[in-house]
Amino acid sequence: MMARPYCLVVALLLLAEASSHGEGVSNPGFVVRVTRKGLDYARQYGMATLKKEMATINLPDLSGSFKVGWMGSMSYEFKSLRILNFLLRNSDLSLRPGKGVTASLSNNYVSIAGNWKVKKGFITLQGTFDLSVDDVSISISLNVGKDPSGRPTASVDDCSNSVGQVSIHTSGNLSWLLNVFHERIENKLKNILKQEICGIIRQSTTTHLEPYLQTLPVTLMIDKVAGIDYSLVGAPWVTSEGLDTPFKGEFFCQSQCSPVPLDAPPIGLSQEHDRMTYFAVSQYVFNTASQVYYQAGYMNFTIRNEHIPLDFPIQLHTKSLGAVIPQLSRLYPNTELELEMSPEAAPFLKFSPGNVTLIPVMNIQAFALLPNSSDRKPLFHLRARTNISTTISVRSGRVLGSLTPGSKLKLELIHSNINFFNVELLETIFNYYATYLIYPTLNAKLEEGFPLPLPRDTYLNSLELQIHKNFLLIAANID
Ligand SMILES: *[C@@H]1O[C@H](CO)[C@@H](O)[C@H](O)[C@H]1NC(C)=O
Ligand SMILES: *[C@@H]1O[C@H](CO)[C@@H](O)[C@H](O)[C@H]1NC(C)=O
Ligand SMILES: *[C@@H]1O[C@H](CO)[C@@H](O)[C@H](O)[C@H]1NC(C)=O
Ligand SMILES: *[C@@H]1O[C@H](CO)[C@@H](O)[C@H](O)[C@H]1NC(C)=O
Ligand SMILES: *[C@@H]1O[C@H](CO)[C@@H](O)[C@H](O)[C@H]1NC(C)=O
Repeated sequence: MMARPYCLVVALLLLAEASSHGEGVSNPGFVVRVTRKGLDYARQYGMATLKKEMATINLPDLSGSFKVGWMGSMSYEFKSLRILNFLLRNSDLSLRPGKGVTASLSNNYVSIAGNWKVKKGFITLQGTFDLSVDDVSISISLNVGKDPSGRPTASVDDCSNSVGQVSIHTSGNLSWLLNVFHERIENKLKNILKQEICGIIRQSTTTHLEPYLQTLPVTLMIDKVAGIDYSLVGAPWVTSEGLDTPFKGEFFCQSQCSPVPLDAPPIGLSQEHDRMTYFAVSQYVFNTASQVYYQAGYMNFTIRNEHIPLDFPIQLHTKSLGAVIPQLSRLYPNTELELEMSPEAAPFLKFSPGNVTLIPVMNIQAFALLPNSSDRKPLFHLRARTNISTTISVRSGRVLGSLTPGSKLKLELIHSNINFFNVELLETIFNYYATYLIYPTLNAKLEEGFPLPLPRDTYLNSLELQIHKNFLLIAANID
């Protein structure tokens, strides 16, 4: 149970040691902020795990010889040393803006038990001992960066510790003798502890933290068409508020396409800190997605009569539509029609405080399907404008969308092969087609959503969403 949160903690910690921010690259599409609260949460689990790891410190046997007055030289051995308790009492994280994170553990206490033995000629004396070490302090500075694949990396930049008072209590015959070489034993133990403590911390970093960070996805495949690039565009950086990690957050096509370059707008994160983490998802992420799916033809729709529910009064047939465009039934009696709808450009989502607006411009071309022929006759070309209202939500670590018509379609006749007709009469009909045929298709796709970049086994709760200028802000706690 401990391993996961510990890893999280350390990961969060490690996302910390910042080099300078930005390297002059473009704005990130995605920023994850871990607040002090988040770091504190991580620290608690980190301490619990560290405590367990400390108990596994291997203490070697100690042996040597010493001289005592008239008895001359005697040899001693301290064996079967084991840690009974490693009490981590106070821990504190300090954020060093622009630099890194330092964890300080102070006033820690270690108790050790073992056996002692003293030999002189044929005489052997032995007994047990308890030993306690007070005032153990540990200070760990973490360094984070990014590797060439764009994943975060973590390492212990500096680890130092100090050991305070050592006191030994021995039992057995001649235990007084041991007092003679207390100091020697104390110093040996102090040195061993000093080396072992930082060793354990470094080892924990390489065995737990580094592999954990490697579970952060760099690219995620969304479907056959698209993937998302979550590589870091810079090293994580430390502010006085927490730790910010900049991700690229860009959709890409899995097969050929030629994306139109977009610029990611700046993300102005506010100083909120109620939650452990804040995910800022730039409108850039959504707009690169829009580009990819637009180029893949996901926003092109062909509507034929077979798609129109039978109970709808206006079918895509000249018998039916002729009521609105009289010349249609004269020119093409008893003929089915086909509509092709495609956006003029990849629809652009704009995030402004409280709202996400989407104002696509669609081209609609109508054709008559000639009987007994694969030929179709172009009839007219319309341009449609509408305001779409977008709702964004987060579920199971995925960002989902949903579209609802924000206004009626406004039609404009661009070209007609069948003379003039009143487009306003068509608006209600096409509006219906959009509402019942196009929105459900788009929403089914948007309902699949895209995943947030989360390391293994990380779950979000207490979610809150806000729309800010240029970005969506998701506030969450972690468990
Ligand atoms: C010391 O050793 C003697 C005999 O070996 C034993 O009778 C006595 O109980 C021992 N004293 C202590 C304090 O262990
Ligand atoms: C979508 O439709 C438009 C207009 O008919 C066309 O130019 C474009 O190539 C289509 N896109 C795809 C990917 O099929
Ligand atoms: C956001 O949309 C709502 C409803 O469409 C509208 O009333 C409000 O004025 C919009 N807010 C901004 C800042 O545009
Ligand atoms: C078209 O097909 C229908 C039935 O499939 C047939 O009755 C009719 O004769 C055909 N007309 C022409 C011009 O081929
Ligand atoms: C869309 O909304 C904008 C601003 O609210 C408005 O000016 C425009 O007329 C609307 N367009 C349509 C097609 O309703």
